[in-house]
Amino acid sequence: MDASSSPQLDRLAGPRRGSALTIDVDGEPIPCFAGETIAVAILTVRSWISQDAVRRRGLYCGIGVCFECVVAVEGVPGIRACITLVHEGMFVQTRLDAEIDA
Ligand code: FES
Repeated sequence: MDASSSPQLDRLAGPRRGSALTIDVDGEPIPCFAGETIAVAILTVRSWISQDAVRRRGLYCGIGVCFECVVAVEGVPGIRACITLVHEGMFVQTRLDAEIDA
């Protein structure tokens, strides 16, 4: 019996991922998968999501309520990384105190 013939065994086969893609985070290419959020993509390569002049910020609620994870996407600030899905070539800025380039 292969994993595709049984829902129970299918779960044991591991997570299914969307297609592989790359986003740009502060000029660094980060590999990720379609269907993941920006937060997941960033947290695969480091332990924090964004930073300002005072501190680094991470994931707090993870459901879009607290705004702890805000980043700028394509020059638009205030985007919650925990509820925003990645797309190929997405440009993310995580320095909250940096000037936003449109
Ligand atoms: S972690 Fe709370 S809004 Fe993203």
